[in-house]
Amino acid sequence: MPEFPILDGKRILLVIAGGIAAYKSLELIRRLREQGCHVRCILTAGGARFVTPLTVSALSEDKVYQDLWSLTDESEMGHIRLSRSADLVVVAPATANLLAKMATGLADDLASTALLATDKPVLVAPAMNGVMWDHPATQTNVAVLTGRGVRRIGPNAGALACGETGSGRMAEPGEILAAIVGHFEGLAGSGRGLPLAGRRALVTSGPTIEPIDPVRYITNRSSGRQGHAIARGLAGLGASTILVTGPTAEPDPPGVQVIRIETADQMLAACQASLPVDVAVCAAAVADWRMRKVADHKLKKDQGEMPVLELTENPDILATLAKAGPHRPRLVVGFAAETRRIIEHAQAKLVRKGCDWIVANDVGQGTGTFGGERNTVHVLRAGSQGGPASVEDWPLLSKVSVGERLAVAIADHLSGSAPVRS
Ligand code: C5P
Repeated sequence: MPEFPILDGKRILLVIAGGIAAYKSLELIRRLREQGCHVRCILTAGGARFVTPLTVSALSEDKVYQDLWSLTDESEMGHIRLSRSADLVVVAPATANLLAKMATGLADDLASTALLATDKPVLVAPAMNGVMWDHPATQTNVAVLTGRGVRRIGPNAGALACGETGSGRMAEPGEILAAIVGHFEGLAGSGRGLPLAGRRALVTSGPTIEPIDPVRYITNRSSGRQGHAIARGLAGLGASTILVTGPTAEPDPPGVQVIRIETADQMLAACQASLPVDVAVCAAAVADWRMRKVADHKLKKDQGEMPVLELTENPDILATLAKAGPHRPRLVVGFAAETRRIIEHAQAKLVRKGCDWIVANDVGQGTGTFGGERNTVHVLRAGSQGGPASVEDWPLLSKVSVGERLAVAIADHLSGSAPVRS
């Protein structure tokens, strides 16, 4: 179902250059087509090393243009007309090489020629090794292009295909899609920009750790991947996003304000200090209990100090945020990690916590959800006046895609309501 009616009928010329991120451009084509866009693609020689013309053509349902010197192409379309045949030119991935050509006006293949000949707005999604991105040559080229009005989305920080980490990962398809939506909304003069622009979002992620003594603690299993991906998805759609997270190895999502905490008490305090927000998503694996009394020195095993763990309950952050009151977010979303009777338990949790939506996922043995890249979720939305919840089953998706899709669903839900004032 089209989520962004503004994209319906828009013509996108997508230039796919030679980077490993080209595979993500296939997903971008699919999503643009879903929104009713006409997508015409230019594939560079490098790009064709990563994705095949056949795949690009099948997904775009159009011919793929590859050769500046193709007589057939020239007689049908011509590179000048091709460069002007779109409402927006998107370059994804935009390699260091292609950005350099664009900045200097080189035109030695179809892609660079079309980019020089176009009179249409251009959006680039850079993708490259982090050192290449940081290199003054690339930064100068990007500054030149920005000065000429070329729009840019990404790159993001994180693990790169070359095995290094740094800035250079191409923005995710959902983020590029959001930037394209933002471009057309800006043109339409709606002034709204991205669908969550002007909104405030709060996300909890990762585990909490509850000290036993200065060196030991109890905690929950959580990589923070899903929570971080949601924060990233919300920020990608323009929300001013605060991520309150326990210790994780995840990189900070781009454009997100990150508050690091350790204990559940600290997480609650940081969340409350972040209010008011339009939406709160609690994806953290908060420890249910903490020590009634934390030892102020390291307990010594050779001095017979084996502790009896006397526990006390932690505050329920989700339930606290969901309580009625002047600062209750318009939308409160919780998570339910279950191993059995997932929907039934999630239904009960929706009521018990007083939240609006529950994203339920199966974390049973063999699902690979914990610490994994992917997730299968079911989204339960509370029925009106205590009626039964609706359940939407989502397919197996990457956690990043779950984050993007949830952000889109949130944007959809909030559209039409006034944003909170901070
Ligand atoms: O009660 P349970 O831990 O199963 O509920 C899971 C949901 O509640 C998640 O959204 C989690 O982030 C949230 N939660 C919380 N504070 C707690 C316990 C859970 O926010 N103390």
